[in-house]
Amino acid sequence: MSTGGEKRALIIGASRGLGYALTTEFLDRGWQVTATERKPSALRELAESAGGRLTVETVDIAVPAQVTALHERLGGSRIDLLFVNAGTNYTTDPSATFTDVSTDDFIRVMVTNALSPMRVIETLEDLVPPSGTIGVMSSGQGSVTDNTNGGFEVYRASKSALNQLMRSFAARHADDPRTLLLMAPGWVKTDLGGPGARLNLDDSIPGVADTIEAQTGRGGLHYLDRQNRSVNW
Ligand SMILES: NC(=O)c1ccc[n+]([C@@H]2O[C@H](COP(=O)([O-])OP(=O)(O)OC[C@H]3O[C@@H](n4cnc5c(N)ncnc54)[C@H](OP(=O)(O)O)[C@@H]3O)[C@@H](O)[C@H]2O)c1
Repeated sequence: MSTGGEKRALIIGASRGLGYALTTEFLDRGWQVTATERKPSALRELAESAGGRLTVETVDIAVPAQVTALHERLGGSRIDLLFVNAGTNYTTDPSATFTDVSTDDFIRVMVTNALSPMRVIETLEDLVPPSGTIGVMSSGQGSVTDNTNGGFEVYRASKSALNQLMRSFAARHADDPRTLLLMAPGWVKTDLGGPGARLNLDDSIPGVADTIEAQTGRGGLHYLDRQNRSVNW
């Protein structure tokens, strides 16, 4: 396990599941972490045992005024890793098609998974120095090329949209030395992944953190799995 020294991570959407596990993983690696929740969560208890290295903030990424307020509260702090983990779905049924979804749920999934993470990045990116990393939790489901079996249709579409928006952000920042990451953690047992998922948190998160650390300083945009391998766009 590598150590991050004085490195600082901001993990957005960390109350439970992969975001909470990523928070504990970076704390174990010696990082200073600011982690966000929407309402009081297990992060509070974790902060009490983290020896001052975990700060808990509150933000709903779908509410732009809350994202702006978070930026103001962070007050120019340096963030070596900005990682937007927050995401949602409307069903854990892998066979769900877009014919099953209500228009309201379709909008909610798209706004939460594609538009809101990019708004967070646009609002907070000035806190990340040239040596830093800006990452988002995408999914292997976001790959257009690898969609040979269907399933998870609306969720897939939202992660493909996220990937496309991140490519547009990268194109607009072509001379930016910072590293941009779209991470695919594998199919993991969480509230979102459901009980039928193949992996436990421990099978996924150490590899996600290893991959993020291995990419430090590389620059450019990379769509990667938890074993640091490229995912097809
Ligand atoms: N599990 C998998 O198999 C899998 C696979 C690939 C990618 N992913 C992605 O990994 C990320 C985490 O998923 P998970 O499986 O850990 O899901 P989860 O257990 O359902 O956790 C989702 C997290 O996102 C937060 N969140 C949702 N909407 C938010 C919003 N509007 N503003 C701020 N926070 C919000 C939740 O906060 P609350 O507690 O307040 O709801 C929670 O902390 C998601 O982006 C997901 O798409 C998951």
